[in-house]
Amino acid sequence: MYHQPALLYQTIEGLNIKPGGIYADLTYGGGGHSRLILSKVGDGTVIAFDQDKDALANKIDDERLILVHSNFRFLKNFLKFYKALPVDGILADLGISSYQIDDPERGFSFRFDTPLDLRMNQMGDLTAADIINDYSEESIRTILKEFGEVAEAVWLAREICSTRINSSIKTTGQLMEVVKKVAPRNREYKTGAKVFQALRIAVNDELGALADMLNQAVEVLKPGGRLVIISYHSLEDRLVKNIFKTGNIEGELIKDFYGNPDLTFKQINRKPITPSKEEISENNRVRSAKLRIGERL
Ligand SMILES: C[S@@+](CC[C@H](N)C(=O)[O-])C[C@H]1O[C@@H](n2cnc3c(N)ncnc32)[C@H](O)[C@@H]1O
Repeated sequence: MYHQPALLYQTIEGLNIKPGGIYADLTYGGGGHSRLILSKVGDGTVIAFDQDKDALANKIDDERLILVHSNFRFLKNFLKFYKALPVDGILADLGISSYQIDDPERGFSFRFDTPLDLRMNQMGDLTAADIINDYSEESIRTILKEFGEVAEAVWLAREICSTRINSSIKTTGQLMEVVKKVAPRNREYKTGAKVFQALRIAVNDELGALADMLNQAVEVLKPGGRLVIISYHSLEDRLVKNIFKTGNIEGELIKDFYGNPDLTFKQINRKPITPSKEEISENNRVRSAKLRIGERL
C-alpha cells in the first residue's frame, strides 16, 4: 500500500464537507483522504497537490478531481488558475508518505545505504548530500539544532566537516557512521532519526512552505470554510497553532479599536486530536500526529 491515511474519519468530519463545494487536499500522496472527500462532495470539486511526481501515478480516475504536481506553497496561484477561488475547505496531512520512506532510492531512511537525497520533489535543486558536503560547519550546526533538536549538534557538525576533508559523505550509511561516532551509546538510531528529520526539513524548506501555505489559506477560504491540518512534529505544530489562535504564523494577537481580539479562525478543537491506541498499533508511523481544525470567520 502506498500510504495508510492518518486520522481519516476525524479529518473528513473536521472538513464538514458540503455537497457541491470545492475542497483542496494539499498532500495527495496515495489519495486516501481525497477518495473519502470525493465520496461526500457530490458534484463538487477536489483540487489536490503533491510535489512528488510518484504520487501522480495514484490519481483516482474521477473528473471531479484535479491533481496538481506542485508544492502547496503555490496554492493561491493554482486555485486562481483553475477558477477554484474561494474554497470550502483545505486539508494538509504534512510530512512524507510511507511510500517515500520505504523507497530506498529516496534516502529518507537510514535502514538502507543509499545516496543522501531526501528531496520530496525529485526536481528540487538541493539534496541532503549538498548540505552535508558544501555547507559551512556553522550552517550544519544550526540545521541540526533548530530542525532536529540534536543535542550533539556542535560535535556532530565538527565531525562531519573533518570527515569530509578526506572524502565526501555521499550515502545514508556514511552519514550514520559519522553520527555513531558522536551519539551517546545505545542512542545512535534516536540521534540518527533526529539528524534525518533536520536534513529533510532543510532540503525541502518544509517550514517555509508551510508558512507560505498557511498565510494563503487565510485568504482563499470562504467564511465558514474549514482548515484541517495534521502535523507530525512540534516545529510544524507551532505554526499551525499560531494561525488558528491569531490568524498569523507569528502568533501575534491583533486587537481591534476596542481592544477585542480580531480573530481569523474559530478553533473547532482546543486540544489537538491524536490517533487512538488502535490506530497506532496498526500504523506506528502516525504516533506523533496532531490534528487541528479551524473555521474561517
Ligand atoms: C503524509 S503524506 C500524505 C498522504 C495522503 N494524505 C494519503 O492519504 O495518502 C504527505 C504527502 O504530501 C506531499 N507533500 C509534503 N509537503 C508538500 C508540499 N510542501 N507541497 C506539496 N506536496 C507536499 C508528500 O510528497 C507526500 O506525498
